[in-house]
Amino acid sequence: MSSADPRQQPLRIPALGVVALVGVSGSGKTTFARKHFAETEVLSSDTCRGWVADDQADQSATDDAFAVLYDVAERRLRRAKLTVIDATSVQPFARKVIVALARSQHVHASAVVLDLPLELCLQRNAARGGRKVPQEAIRQQHSDLRQSLDHLKQEGFRTVYVLDSEAAVAAARFERTRMAYDRTDDRGPFDIIGDVHGCADELKALLGELGYRRTDRDGAEVFAHPHGRRALFLGDLCDRGPATPEVYRTVVAMVRHNAALCLPGNHDVKLLRWLQGRNVRLTHGLDRSVQQFQAEPESFRNEIAAFIDRLISHFVLDQGNLVVAHAGLKESMQGRPTAGVREFCLYGETTGEIDELGLPVRVNWAEHYRGRALVVYGHTPVPSVRWRNNAVCIDTGCVFGGALTALRYPEREIVAVPAARAYFESPKSQHPGASEPTGPV
Ligand code: UTP
Ligand code: MG
Repeated sequence: MSSADPRQQPLRIPALGVVALVGVSGSGKTTFARKHFAETEVLSSDTCRGWVADDQADQSATDDAFAVLYDVAERRLRRAKLTVIDATSVQPFARKVIVALARSQHVHASAVVLDLPLELCLQRNAARGGRKVPQEAIRQQHSDLRQSLDHLKQEGFRTVYVLDSEAAVAAARFERTRMAYDRTDDRGPFDIIGDVHGCADELKALLGELGYRRTDRDGAEVFAHPHGRRALFLGDLCDRGPATPEVYRTVVAMVRHNAALCLPGNHDVKLLRWLQGRNVRLTHGLDRSVQQFQAEPESFRNEIAAFIDRLISHFVLDQGNLVVAHAGLKESMQGRPTAGVREFCLYGETTGEIDELGLPVRVNWAEHYRGRALVVYGHTPVPSVRWRNNAVCIDTGCVFGGALTALRYPEREIVAVPAARAYFESPKSQHPGASEPTGPV
């Protein structure tokens, strides 16, 4: 539960998400919603009862009313629209549906509880014209609410605000927080670079091909583009290759000096766990990164851990025309904040089965992709750049002896440098016909 005093602090809600107003009849939910949200953002159970039954008080219409409400809510969320639910929501089953709705649309649910004295709610209900709710019903709702208050977080509401006085309700103001993924204002141009896997020489050669020059910024060597283009790394900077620390050094300097953006890959987050001192299996080439990092000072290891830890799972860029994520991202998850979305960005979609090599069996989301945004991703080594629908995989397996590839955006030109040699044997080449390697899951 939020301990912030709403008289000082704004109530922060995600710009895209579900907000449930929770409170007994007469607590002022509809009045509150009208004050803080646009009319079309608020879905009221009473309004829906009116639509289906010509009578907002007709309790026999409850099921139909909620069917309409949830149908509209789902369609709004699919279109990335903030959705406020104005219903009492004092019983656990009602809130369960709201949490499930949010989850199904990969957004967070917030609860704003109008926890006002029962007598005040009864008084307001008695005073209002039109629809009046029986007193007994309000008493029951109040008792349900009291029993619910401590459990809302556990039920799955990401944020819970309790407004427990008329003054708190009057002072409340909302602040809509922009999603970290939302870089729609950033139009690039970008040079999007696939999985580097410790191939520092090829990375520097590729940056050179792309027109980046070594510059001196406050004593640090930084690759920067004379026309202000930025590199955008798709993650998996580490493992298997010969010079993982040098790759991070290069990328971190570029990010710090606004010459690059960087996403996390599954290998980076596993390396992070090792850097944080956790127990991880040194497989899939992590052993090489570990060896290389052991020769580096602790301060550098800490710096890289902090860098990886702050990376954001994906970006929506250029007015929504471009989405980047390490393993790609299906349309219904783009620009959404849940842990499930992050998992998809890092590992892709798997069936939960394991193939004959002990690797997870993947679902190729790109085969079914119909989204408007171009999705650029890596993660799955392919012999050459692979376009499917409006999605493109640019991991051309440099560390396995392929090439390190960049996609120039918006030009959609490919620039690649071949690997100096194969630094690591591909599981696929050992087992022809096996499914493509996905790395650790
Ligand atoms: P609402 O109609 O906003 O309550 O206010 P509600 O929570 O949405 O109630 P249900 O669940 O739909 O039944 C109830 C009455 O209280 C007055 C409103 O004008 C309305 O008549 N009210 C509300 C106030 O007098 N002051 C307030 O701050 C809020
Ligand atoms: Mg109401």
